[in-house]
Amino acid sequence: MWWTLCIFVIVLLWSTAESQIRYTIPEELKEGSVVGNIAKDLGLEVSVIYDRKLRIASESSKQYFTVDLAKGELVVNHRIDRETLCGQNAACLLPLQVVIENPLQQHRVEVEIQDINDNAPHFHLKEIQLTIPELIAPGTRFPLESADDPDVGSNSLHTYTLNNDFFRLNVKTLKDGRKVPELIVEKPLDREKQANYRIILKALDGGNPVKSGTALIQVTVQDINDNEPKFGQTLYKATVKESATIGQSVLSIMASDFDEGPNGEVEYFFGAHTSDSVKEAFGVNSLTGEVTVIGHLDYEDVKIYTFDVSAKDKGHPELQGHSSVQIDIIDENDNEPEIKLTSMPSPVRENATVGTAVALINVKDLDSGDNGKVQLSVAPGYPFKLKPSFDDHYSLVTDSILDREVNSEYDVKIIATDLGSPPLTTSKYVNVKILDINDNAPAFTHAVYDVYVRENNPAGASLFSVVATDKDQDKNSMLTYSIADTKFQDIPASSYFYINAENGTIYSMNSFDYEKLKLFQIIVQCKDQGTPSLSSNATVNVFVLDQNDNIPAVIYPSAIMGSVSHQRMPRSAKTGHLVTKVTAVDADSGHNAWISYRLAEATDSSLFAVNLYTGEVRTKRSVSEQDYASQRLLIEIKDNGEPVQSTTVIVDILIEDGLHEPISDFRQKATEKDKKNSKITFYLILSLASVSVLSLLTFFILFIKCAKNSRGDASCCIRRDSDGYKNPNRNLQIQLNTDGPIKYVEVLGGDMMSQSQSFGSYLSPMSEFSDLTLVKPSSTLDFKDTLRGLDASLPDSAWTFECQQVRQAHCLKPNYI
Ligand SMILES: *[C@@H]1O[C@H](CO)[C@@H](O)[C@H](O)[C@H]1NC(C)=O
Ligand SMILES: *[C@@H]1O[C@H](CO)[C@@H](O)[C@H](O)[C@H]1NC(C)=O
Repeated sequence: MWWTLCIFVIVLLWSTAESQIRYTIPEELKEGSVVGNIAKDLGLEVSVIYDRKLRIASESSKQYFTVDLAKGELVVNHRIDRETLCGQNAACLLPLQVVIENPLQQHRVEVEIQDINDNAPHFHLKEIQLTIPELIAPGTRFPLESADDPDVGSNSLHTYTLNNDFFRLNVKTLKDGRKVPELIVEKPLDREKQANYRIILKALDGGNPVKSGTALIQVTVQDINDNEPKFGQTLYKATVKESATIGQSVLSIMASDFDEGPNGEVEYFFGAHTSDSVKEAFGVNSLTGEVTVIGHLDYEDVKIYTFDVSAKDKGHPELQGHSSVQIDIIDENDNEPEIKLTSMPSPVRENATVGTAVALINVKDLDSGDNGKVQLSVAPGYPFKLKPSFDDHYSLVTDSILDREVNSEYDVKIIATDLGSPPLTTSKYVNVKILDINDNAPAFTHAVYDVYVRENNPAGASLFSVVATDKDQDKNSMLTYSIADTKFQDIPASSYFYINAENGTIYSMNSFDYEKLKLFQIIVQCKDQGTPSLSSNATVNVFVLDQNDNIPAVIYPSAIMGSVSHQRMPRSAKTGHLVTKVTAVDADSGHNAWISYRLAEATDSSLFAVNLYTGEVRTKRSVSEQDYASQRLLIEIKDNGEPVQSTTVIVDILIEDGLHEPISDFRQKATEKDKKNSKITFYLILSLASVSVLSLLTFFILFIKCAKNSRGDASCCIRRDSDGYKNPNRNLQIQLNTDGPIKYVEVLGGDMMSQSQSFGSYLSPMSEFSDLTLVKPSSTLDFKDTLRGLDASLPDSAWTFECQQVRQAHCLKPNYI
């Protein structure tokens, strides 16, 4: 026990100091701890001290000690704190009065309280606030509060320590011995690195063991605007579509400033030399650094915007940071392709070969990439196509043969489509005119025109107009008409006809005579003015229509034999005696040539009669003795035309008494001719015999055929093929109607073109059968008789039969040819 050792030491001390008893005890002893045997030290017996009432009379109010009367020991009555008792005095003596009675004695006892290290150094303020500007020079001192330690001596405050590298401690000992610590800035401070330091200041005493007390030094580094705002990137990149709307955010720039407060508050601006175009397109939010679209963007104008931005803090002076922004505009398909004609479309000839260039076309699209790639095409349905030449240049070429007559011009639709999505399309019409080529011949409205003209027409009358058209244009369709230089009976067509070269009206140059020419077949040529010119022909058949312009001509009795014909007859003649036969012909045809005979006047009209059709003059009764020997007949001969043409013939008849055989002078003259004819007649009869059988058979078949074929207007024609050498011009024609008996039979002879002679006039007037020039329509006509009469009058020939449908009642026309 350390304190028993102490007591021993104290006793020793006591023994050396004679005058006084002094005990030395450490402070803070427990109650009851023995300080010393006071009885013994006073030289008293323990047994007497009770009786002598040994007691402690303390000077202080508090009784720190008592005496154990049984043992005579001074013991601690209260815990003694030296620091309370003595404070900072190094020596702490507690004086005690020991009083003994019987005899009353007073002794002074001193108790020295020795310090023990029972107090730690102590700071009054546990926390010290310090504000130090950053960038302060190292070495700057800041006085700190000193710590207290009530202990004394080596137990008192000895030193201080710090636990920080940035700071150092200096302990200054004042004159009064107090040790005051100073904080010295050891290293430069950077608020941006460390804004606060918590430093523990430790005060240590010199005791053993060492006791310590701490205080917290809170160092706040005060900001200085020593950091400029710094952008995160040296170059900000962003893209924005050209269609971006105003207000659209493009990117955010960000600068950081490590300073605090206003020194760290950053505002954003455009760089000093930012162009107006940038400022018109974009804006920078000064607070947030957001870059937004504020104007219209157009990739086609500006593809990339590059500008500087700066960030400023609000310190004094302010600091700036810089960065760059690059904004790429993204192209969008906002431009339609543009079709341009690099040359005016040139007109193209309709016969141009396939591939002929018509126009040069250039296509353009302001967009880029696929948005700017353009496909050019011709809308379907045009005979054109596009031929690419280079880049976006094309030539419009013909794709097929053109025909101006079908399409004189084209508005070729050209379509341009870009490859954007969605694609944009434009179209343009290119007008291409087709030039005419003389590739169409004039065309008449008809290949053959039939024109009917009455004979005796006035010369110079307009007959007819032919019309031709030409599909070509301009000169190629300017037409002129002309009449081909053919000849009619050695007379050129031009002396008969004239054609208006401009409009095709045909005029007659002469009056026509049916009896000379019945048909003109003229060829009208129409020619255009192209080079080379084209032409075409049309046939105009001018049929001359018969007019009753011929007076019947008396053939017998002939006027050559005198102005009056003299006939003789015997008085013995009976009724029906054939006196003579008047024969007349009419150069006209058809009805105009139907001749009838009539007795106009007679010496005795009861004696003679004239057959209306045959012209036979016969006696009506027997001649009597009373009848005059000389009789005169005036016979009128009329045709059936309109107006009627007539002539008369006077026949003088001499009735002779002795005359039996009536021999006319005509007969005598005709004998020779008769003999010649008799041979022919013989052959005719012979051939008729054979042919008639065949004919009848054929007719029969023909009838059946006709009846079968049609109930309408079928007509059957019997035609005799001409022998060529004998009489090439003779035709026989019979028109039959299936719905009834034969209406009429007409026999025609003569030339193909000029039927100058009628059959009747050709035959011998004396022939028994030749009187049939024309059989009038009659339902009672005996067909056999007709045939017999016809065949008898015709030379031997071959017969053919034709049966054809006839719309109009002419069977005549085709037989001209
Ligand atoms: C053709 O021209 C002539 C003379 O100018 C005229 O008399 C005639 O009527 C014209 N014919 C036609 C069909 O126009
Ligand atoms: C038209 O007729 C003329 C005269 O007969 C002839 O020379 C010409 O070849 C004919 N033209 C045509 C296209 O038939």
